Amino acid sequence: MKRIFPPSFYNLVTLIGAAVAGVSLALIAFLIILEMFATQSKPYMGILTFVILPMVLFVGIILIAFGIIREHRRERLGKPHGLHLPQIDLNNPHHRAAFTLFSIGTIALLAFSAFGSFKAYEYTDSDQFCGEICHKVMEPEYTAYQYSPHARVGCVQCHIGSGADWFVRAKISGSYQVYAVLFNKYPKPIPTPIENLRPAQQTCEQCHWPKHFFSEKKHVNTYYISDEQNTKWTLNLLMKIGGGNIEAGPTSGIHWHMNIAHEVSYAALDTQRQVIPWVRSKSPDGKETIYRSTDITISDDSLKKFLVRRMDCIDCHNRPTHIYHPPARSVNHIMSLGWIDSKLPNIKSISVNALENPYVSRQGALDSIKLSINEYYQQNYADIALSKKVKIDSAIAEVQKIYNRNYFPAMKVNWKNFNDNLGHLYYLGCFRCHDGKHISNEGKVLSKDCNVCHTILSQQFEQDTPQLSLNGIDYKHPVDVGDAWKETNCSDCHNPK
Ligand code: HEC
Ligand code: HEC
Ligand code: HEC
Ligand code: HEC
Ligand code: HEC
Ligand code: HEC
Repeated sequence: MKRIFPPSFYNLVTLIGAAVAGVSLALIAFLIILEMFATQSKPYMGILTFVILPMVLFVGIILIAFGIIREHRRERLGKPHGLHLPQIDLNNPHHRAAFTLFSIGTIALLAFSAFGSFKAYEYTDSDQFCGEICHKVMEPEYTAYQYSPHARVGCVQCHIGSGADWFVRAKISGSYQVYAVLFNKYPKPIPTPIENLRPAQQTCEQCHWPKHFFSEKKHVNTYYISDEQNTKWTLNLLMKIGGGNIEAGPTSGIHWHMNIAHEVSYAALDTQRQVIPWVRSKSPDGKETIYRSTDITISDDSLKKFLVRRMDCIDCHNRPTHIYHPPARSVNHIMSLGWIDSKLPNIKSISVNALENPYVSRQGALDSIKLSINEYYQQNYADIALSKKVKIDSAIAEVQKIYNRNYFPAMKVNWKNFNDNLGHLYYLGCFRCHDGKHISNEGKVLSKDCNVCHTILSQQFEQDTPQLSLNGIDYKHPVDVGDAWKETNCSDCHNPK
């Protein structure tokens, strides 16, 4: 066989290296062509093409170089006067061929790996990578995200943002996560709050301008009580979401906390940031007001052990996109759309109960939901079970859909494991501070008054005349619990631990 490369090329290590590099290069080329023609790109193929194979290719190249260098050293040791570097004689046809081949190969490789790493970069930033590669692990987050207002916002826009330093930080913690997934070392569910989440100023505020919250927002809420008639109750709330801009008008309202000139900070005793004994509010003129909880007594010295955090978007909007809805809320919503027929007796309570049973697998849950609802009607309303079979079947299908979007038994993810800090019905939320028990030295109270954050415009049972007023009315709890709703937190009853 005619040898086109210089003799030092012909050693075992280099030849193996060349084979490895050649095969992986061919594979990469093949996969890229394949991907070009594929109608739907496959995430696992991407990781192979742009991450794993290039690494193999790189190992091959190292082997080639290592073999050649070793061969030269051997030669040198054998001949003490030998050359330190290979001598290239372009007049020698063997050398010329090897040189040309090597140069073209190197240039092609460089161009290729530049392109390859660009694709790898692009790829690890895609929602597909985030949401599907670690499929099982992040399935809950990805599913909830697809049904959220941010379904068109890339994962990286909130989790990484722009700029090199956060990119590198995210990729470093990301490589640990890849390891954790491969070796099944991740916690279930993935814990929050995320310690190294980028500050909201650099993510949320790229799209939402905090100075520009000024108008109020109307909520029309429909509820169905857990009785035989699924009695309907409606409540209209006007959310006071203003608050941002001193120059442009009124600064009162919920986003007052985010007004650049103000600074609200707090200390929390738990990692979930739910138990807050100490809050400081600093006004633009530097005046500080400190609120202390009368419920949680803790000395100033012990307080020093806890981190003081400045409030930002995430302290209220901690679930802007991965929202796991409580069952009562989802069922109310679907019933108000008419997709679950509210004429089916007790459908509200049996749907909620069917969702809330602790299931160990998704399939088991879906089967049990079907079984339990069917059985309920067969045993208690045999005539309805027959005459309204179609309605019952479609109710079952809707309840199963709710389950699929909000419960992930494999990752132990459901609404109970993730506090949503935005409201106060199912979680402490705003009432972590606004519980009427955080009081300043001057006697100022963080009020729990029902018309401070929203104006209650109207409330009504379907059979009654509505109570309404634009100035806000006194709240009436839909079922009689005495004064308990004033004295205890709503979440004590609505999300019992
Ligand atoms: C609108 C901004 C936003 C987008 C878009 C977004 N996330 Fe999140 N994500 C958050 C916030 C905020 C948290 C909770 C942070 C906290 O509580 O500290 C979070 C938490 C998480 C967690 C931790 C577990 C949990 O459920 O809290 C994972 C995992 C996650 N996101 C993955 C993703 C993936 C995958 C995507 C894209 C499919 C994505 N995120 C898109 C804002 C976002
Ligand atoms: C890339 C731009 C972008 C980023 C980054 C972003 N959002 Fe949004 N957000 C949007 C858009 C667009 C909508 C409106 C979606 C709609 O109405 O369909 C929205 C809607 C919202 C809403 C209203 C939701 C509702 O129920 O109507 C809230 C609250 C919100 N975003 C908070 C946040 C928070 C908090 C962050 C940071 C963690 C964030 N956003 C990051 C683009 C963004
Ligand atoms: C970490 C503690 C904390 C949490 C949590 C919190 N707040 Fe506040 N809030 C404050 C403080 C402190 C003030 C300022 C009181 C003062 O000094 O006037 C305030 C003031 C307000 C005001 C009155 C602003 C004005 O117009 O003067 C509203 C409205 C408000 N908060 C709504 C909310 C809502 C809604 C939530 C939940 C989504 C919430 N807050 C969660 C600490 C908190
Ligand atoms: C004190 C808690 C709190 C903080 C801090 C906070 N928000 Fe809000 N935000 C709310 C509440 C409460 C609403 C009304 C929610 C609703 O209508 O369901 C709201 C509504 C919104 C909306 C929807 C407005 C609309 O017209 O529908 C956006 C967007 C938003 N916030 C973005 C942000 C951003 C960005 C930040 C950080 C700069 C932030 N919020 C900080 C409590 C807060
Ligand atoms: C510190 C601010 C604040 C105070 C005080 C407050 N609320 Fe709310 N409330 C909110 C916010 C914010 C939401 C919206 C949550 C959301 O959009 O998910 C809300 C939502 C609600 C809802 C609808 C809940 C749902 O998810 O269907 C009811 C009912 C309600 N509030 C009643 C009350 C009553 C009764 C009081 C007085 C005891 C009260 N609120 C005091 C901030 C407050
Ligand atoms: C002593 C326990 C208790 C407290 C405290 C309490 N509730 Fe309730 N609440 C109930 C019960 C019981 C029901 C009836 C549940 C049903 O019919 O499914 C109910 C029903 C409701 C409903 C309608 C049912 C639904 O589908 O969600 C709303 C809205 C509600 N409560 C709001 C509140 C608010 C807001 C607070 C806090 C200000 C509060 N509750 C405090 C026990 C309580």
